[in-house]
Amino acid sequence: MVATAGFGFGTLLITAFDPTLFTGESCLSDSFYGNFAGHGVFRPDQACLDTATSFLASGTVIPVKEGAQELVWIEEQSVEESLKAGVASFGDTLEEVLSTITRTRGTYDLGREQEQVLALPTSDYELLYHGDSFALLSLSAESARVIDTVIPPFWKSILLPNGPVSFVPVPSDAVQRVKELLEEAKFDPTVASIVSNISVPQMKNDITWLTGEDGNSGIVSRHSFSSGSRSAAQWLSDRFEDTGATCEFKDFLPGFAPNVVCRYPSTVNTTATVLLSAHYDSRGSFGSTRAPGGDDDGSGTISLLSIARTIKRKGITFKSNVELVAFAGEEQGLLGSRAYAREMRDKDANLTLMIQADMLAYHAPGEPAQLGLPASIGTPEVAQLVSNLSAIYSPELQVGFTSACCSDHQSFHEQGFASTQVFERAGPIADPMYHNSGDLSEREGYDLEQVKSIAKVQFATLLLAAGFDLPDSSA
Ligand SMILES: *[C@@H]1O[C@H](CO)[C@@H](O)[C@H](O)[C@H]1NC(C)=O
Ligand SMILES: *[C@@H]1O[C@H](CO)[C@@H](O)[C@H](O)[C@H]1NC(C)=O
Ligand SMILES: *[C@@H]1O[C@H](CO)[C@@H](O)[C@H](O)[C@H]1NC(C)=O
Ligand SMILES: *[C@@H]1O[C@H](CO)[C@@H](O)[C@H](O)[C@H]1NC(C)=O
Ligand SMILES: [Zn+2]
Repeated sequence: MVATAGFGFGTLLITAFDPTLFTGESCLSDSFYGNFAGHGVFRPDQACLDTATSFLASGTVIPVKEGAQELVWIEEQSVEESLKAGVASFGDTLEEVLSTITRTRGTYDLGREQEQVLALPTSDYELLYHGDSFALLSLSAESARVIDTVIPPFWKSILLPNGPVSFVPVPSDAVQRVKELLEEAKFDPTVASIVSNISVPQMKNDITWLTGEDGNSGIVSRHSFSSGSRSAAQWLSDRFEDTGATCEFKDFLPGFAPNVVCRYPSTVNTTATVLLSAHYDSRGSFGSTRAPGGDDDGSGTISLLSIARTIKRKGITFKSNVELVAFAGEEQGLLGSRAYAREMRDKDANLTLMIQADMLAYHAPGEPAQLGLPASIGTPEVAQLVSNLSAIYSPELQVGFTSACCSDHQSFHEQGFASTQVFERAGPIADPMYHNSGDLSEREGYDLEQVKSIAKVQFATLLLAAGFDLPDSSA
């Protein structure tokens, strides 16, 4: 995928996403551009388009004119209704959202504080297709990469790839392996002792470094194009390597901060690999340049780090290969994970399962600690395994489903890897500081005990799925 090449022109077909569109003789498999909030976007050639109309119940055909540069899908996020009322201006209707794209640089009242905001380098865009809560836009390459910074907080943007992507169903033997793990998911006092060793004070130190709240890191934003994201990448790599991992920076698109891929070797000669991930990039909204990302997704990032630090303290070794991955480019449409998942598919990686941790810290004051699992995207068997391990090792969590959708596990799921996400709430997003300059760790509702409870579940899943040993002295 070369972002600077532009989208070109052709015909798009948008239809309700359905995995059966990829089975059998369907020509659509080769022209898939993504699943956006249940809308499958395809770019079929004329012959395929003619055939598709014979088996599709409904669909919309959109001509993309020559000269179109990049295509970006924007959509409203699943948030509590009460949150929307708190956002003073912009963002109630698609028209208002689009107005944030065309307005000029200046100082605006964003509800919380007066802030100088950025504007897009160019306000030229074309509205190709839309509903009340989503739109497909064509706009310049430069604007396409930073549109996330100017739109309202409860809307997200996804850059369409410049070539077709795969949709590989998760193979039945991979699902079977997860079902076997579920059968093995029984209380183990050694695992309970290990996972409870995760340190909340250490998490506090880590999160305040990432948000800049500690005054030492100098981080103002971890947006994928910011200097803060580069500092964060280096710091994360150093911290993971302190725990015995070997880390690699993986660039995926020009200008973006890299994915940070950290690996622990297996003690057994096997290709089997277990992957836990989070995204370390952040974003603001309405053009604000501050994006501390304490919850989104500093919380998921420190959960990985808390697990790594405990691996080191306890001297744990794994029977399988283990990867802890901090992705970048999530906020522009899962771009870092899309590249890494494709790389893993290309080498036919033997991934037992992967779990993305995205937003673990917030619950509304008065609500119990929770664990949300994805209602739509992911492998139900992995979610079931996580749910059962939560009941065993973090019974304090209320487990349920969330409509908050689509983090980096989607990239892996679409490449046929068994995957799921862990989230902070058994319901829609309720964090009032979502994609906001106020997403700090020192505030009401930000709960590191909940992060620890969810990290325990991620860790227990890792220990079960990878297999492990402790040094002889602690046996
Ligand atoms: C998983 O948890 C559910 C709910 O507690 C339980 O009914 C089921 O037996 C568990 N599955 C396994 C394989 O233990
Ligand atoms: C974690 O384990 C280490 C070494 O076994 C121990 O010194 C430390 O007190 C434990 N910390 C917590 C928070 O349980
Ligand atoms: C690991 O297993 C592979 C495949 O079974 C084999 O080719 C390779 O020689 C083994 N490596 C070692 C170090 O035993
Ligand atoms: C993948 O790993 C599993 C263990 O989880 C192993 O049984 C299987 O042989 C491996 N598959 C390949 C293709 O190496
Ligand atoms: Zn996120």
